[in-house]
Amino acid sequence: MSTRILEHIIESVPASDGAGVKLRRSLGGPRGLRVDPFLMLDEFSSENPGDYIAGFPSHPHRGFETVTYLLDGHMLHEDHLGNRGDLKTGGVQWMTAGRGIIHSEMPQQEDGRMRGFQLWINLPGREKMKPAGYRDLQASEIPVVNLPGGGTAKVIAGKVEIDGVATVGPIQGVTTDPTYIDVTLPAGGHFEQAVDAHHNAFLYPYEGHIEVGPKNGSARALSTHSAGVLTSGDRIEVTAGPEGARFLVLAGRPLKEPVVQYGPFVMNTRQEIEQAVRDYQSGALTRT
Ligand code: CO
Repeated sequence: MSTRILEHIIESVPASDGAGVKLRRSLGGPRGLRVDPFLMLDEFSSENPGDYIAGFPSHPHRGFETVTYLLDGHMLHEDHLGNRGDLKTGGVQWMTAGRGIIHSEMPQQEDGRMRGFQLWINLPGREKMKPAGYRDLQASEIPVVNLPGGGTAKVIAGKVEIDGVATVGPIQGVTTDPTYIDVTLPAGGHFEQAVDAHHNAFLYPYEGHIEVGPKNGSARALSTHSAGVLTSGDRIEVTAGPEGARFLVLAGRPLKEPVVQYGPFVMNTRQEIEQAVRDYQSGALTRT
């Protein structure tokens, strides 16, 4: 057993997307750093409607998956196929854009806090042109595990095993075999998680800071709003700082394919990107 330690840190930077939603972008930011198969991670959090009310009006995607996890708030998702999904506090929308989707994600609240994440996960080349699909999960469909030393783990994808009892997340059947866990720890709390040695993994604290690595060894601090990319190994160990901590655990099988991105299109080659732009302009992006 080897415990992963911090390899490098991708600090988030303030960004704006959609019609002016203010957010923090770590993966996929201006330095272009990704963690295969993860392309981008945005955190949005504001009590000020001016930061989020304009939402994400109609826009396209092709070639990957978007995962929206709402910690607080209410968003309505609609797409060109007529799908509608209400995303409420604690809920997740797992969207496979595949060959093409045109959708909007609009706040359904006029005040109060809106907080959550959008993660982009790449698709292998052979799946980039598959039909679009959705999995909408309400908070009640996502299992919450009580951790032995206090705290909780919400298992969106992957599994958490405590004393030989495995809790498996509702998202399954994704080629990159992702792990997506939202952990809450009390002050000084400790979290250990087995992880496939072949997967890439990173941690993202969004409240408090954490120490990453073996408890009595080479643990290193990771501050709030930064993605901590981990070395290889088959175990993750995290200890919360004195204020406690909340953080995301993300891991997945790397695709090891070329990534060519142009805004909301992520393909393997420049030719495929040019095709995506032509298809969007001609309306073929969303023709089945
Ligand atoms: Co979108």
